[in-house]
Amino acid sequence: MCGIFAYLNYLTPKSRQEVLDLLVTGLKRLEYRGYDSTGVAIDSPDNENIVMVKRTGKVKVLEEAIQEHFSGGEYSKPVLTHVGIAHTRWATHGVPCERNSHPHRSDDGNGFVVVHNGIITNYNDVKTFLAKRGYEFESDTDTEVFAKLVHHLWKTHPTYSFRELVEQAILQVEGAFAIAVKSKYFPGECVASRRSSPLLVGIKTKTRLATDHIPILYGKDEKKLSPDQVLPRSESTSEFMPLEEKEVEYFFASDASAVIEHTNRVIYLEDDDVAAVRDGTLSIHRLKKSLDDPHAREITTLKMEIQQIMKGNYDYFMQKEIFEQPDSVVNTMRGRVRFDGNAIVLGGIKDYIPEIKRCRRLMLIGCGTSYHSAVATRQLLEELTELPVMVELASDFLDRNTPIFRDDVCFFISQSGETADTLMALRYCKQRGALIVGITNTVGSSICRESHCGVHINAGPEIGVASTKAYTSQFISLVMFALVMSEDRLSLQQRRLEILQALSNLADQIRAVLQLDSKVQELAKDLYQHKSLLIMGRGYNFATCLEGALKVKELTYMHSEGIMAGELKHGPLALVDDSMPVLMIVLRDPVYVKCMNALQQVTSRKGCPIIICEEGDEETKAFSSRHLEIPRTVDCLQGILTVIPMQLLSYHIAVLRGCDVDCPRNLAKSVTVE
Ligand code: M6R
Repeated sequence: MCGIFAYLNYLTPKSRQEVLDLLVTGLKRLEYRGYDSTGVAIDSPDNENIVMVKRTGKVKVLEEAIQEHFSGGEYSKPVLTHVGIAHTRWATHGVPCERNSHPHRSDDGNGFVVVHNGIITNYNDVKTFLAKRGYEFESDTDTEVFAKLVHHLWKTHPTYSFRELVEQAILQVEGAFAIAVKSKYFPGECVASRRSSPLLVGIKTKTRLATDHIPILYGKDEKKLSPDQVLPRSESTSEFMPLEEKEVEYFFASDASAVIEHTNRVIYLEDDDVAAVRDGTLSIHRLKKSLDDPHAREITTLKMEIQQIMKGNYDYFMQKEIFEQPDSVVNTMRGRVRFDGNAIVLGGIKDYIPEIKRCRRLMLIGCGTSYHSAVATRQLLEELTELPVMVELASDFLDRNTPIFRDDVCFFISQSGETADTLMALRYCKQRGALIVGITNTVGSSICRESHCGVHINAGPEIGVASTKAYTSQFISLVMFALVMSEDRLSLQQRRLEILQALSNLADQIRAVLQLDSKVQELAKDLYQHKSLLIMGRGYNFATCLEGALKVKELTYMHSEGIMAGELKHGPLALVDDSMPVLMIVLRDPVYVKCMNALQQVTSRKGCPIIICEEGDEETKAFSSRHLEIPRTVDCLQGILTVIPMQLLSYHIAVLRGCDVDCPRNLAKSVTVE
């Protein structure tokens, strides 16, 4: 989805050129989120105006335009204090083009310029309101109304501070958004806010603050606009969090990867926070006061390393992330699984385990790959928890208004922790009194913060839009949860030991599977010109079929379908002939005989499947000349080893087809709109 990056230097000399470099680098770090156009706004050299550059396409194109028009001369002279804002846009309202790219402006004179993520749902009403007052619109976006609304408020309330203007404008708009605003009338100031869309503030100073817990002071916002002055709005109170620094730099960003090379000290903004910097001082104001408001905003120290968000020697982030899996799965288990004592502690949920054991049912909710990790572990969860386990796609779960009870335990699985459908489902369940467990990879994300308890999967930053290492770490997190739940069940101890033993071998076995890379690449050469790929399996490997097909679709734009082998004769078999590419997963587990039946049904129709089977399984291999052999592991962990060839296969097909591996068309890493 869209990305915001804004930079403010206070008493820290930087040339406009340096500021532009910083903005462009910030945007590059956000590229992985998915976008189709870009833009920046900085002060003009005479400080009288704001200049904007926007381009359709990649950040590189914007960078070239900036180099062409804004280098040397006045642009290389240092300025003490300056604000620049930048954006990557993923089109929602209006096609990708320069006119619709952000920043959007309030008027011909660029009085106020705005970058925005999310959707302003009542933008038509606001537009009508402003059009009646003479405003003309130049884009098809919802964002433009915000810039013009701030301008309208500024004209009608000339005594308002910048923060108050933005705050009043925010009170008039509905929807989910993150926003950063710059104004030529308020030089050196920046105001930003969020509602259901992530935004953080990075702080860089020469000296550390004495405390990382900043108290919030309460105050009442005295200035209220009457309904006839603007659209009807709700009351507001404010809290103030003064943070005074000298020689300070602030970074406003959609996620931490854009700020980590500058600072590891960040404040994650909460919904309806308005963060404003004036005279180098950051203050955070609350739009609405609620009972559970915290008394302090914490400055978080990011654990992320810059190397984690660089490609290193790999060609693509996705490739790097696939090959990181021997380490990422260990990181997921680190400090939690004690192989010597066969003990598992999940610190984030341990206090809730008695309550979870008493629940009516477990609900696992997510989207895309995260949903597949729930499908992959459902059977084990049913076995080890002896509870009913429902697995739900967040969007469908919401569409159905699914009944939820106070004694339900609802797991929300999300790499980003910001997926709008999953977050909405979380809020739906929370309102109904269920216990909310977050399974996320992103510390400080909305799902993380809004859950009662949770497991951080610790896979490290995942930059490729296609999820890979997050999937295997989500998988392991849910397996660890199942093991915790069965700790005191005597009848399950043998099974638990078998799984723990297998977990201890997993990293080496993943390394062995990764050795298949060149063989998979050869298979990709056979497949990349085809139109379709069917992936069949059942039992513990059905999730791999779904996940493999999703990877093929999103990365290669080929049709692909994950087929439950048990369903083959109920329809999909009609697709099979000697020209239809088929991949089948046939492992020596409780459904082996059934999988062999399916394999025979396929070969009898002249199908020539690629088979994923266990090392040395000559009987199964005999059915096809093309096979990938993977090491043997316990049935419930097979899905981790079988999904890796699928990740590699989709990656190689994408490269051969010339697709953009890390940023597939039309997709975004973090889907923050419903
Ligand atoms: O961040 P989340 O895990 O909530 O994202 C959910 C899906 O959007 C995501 O898994 C998507 O399906 C991936 N791009 C698939 O590779």
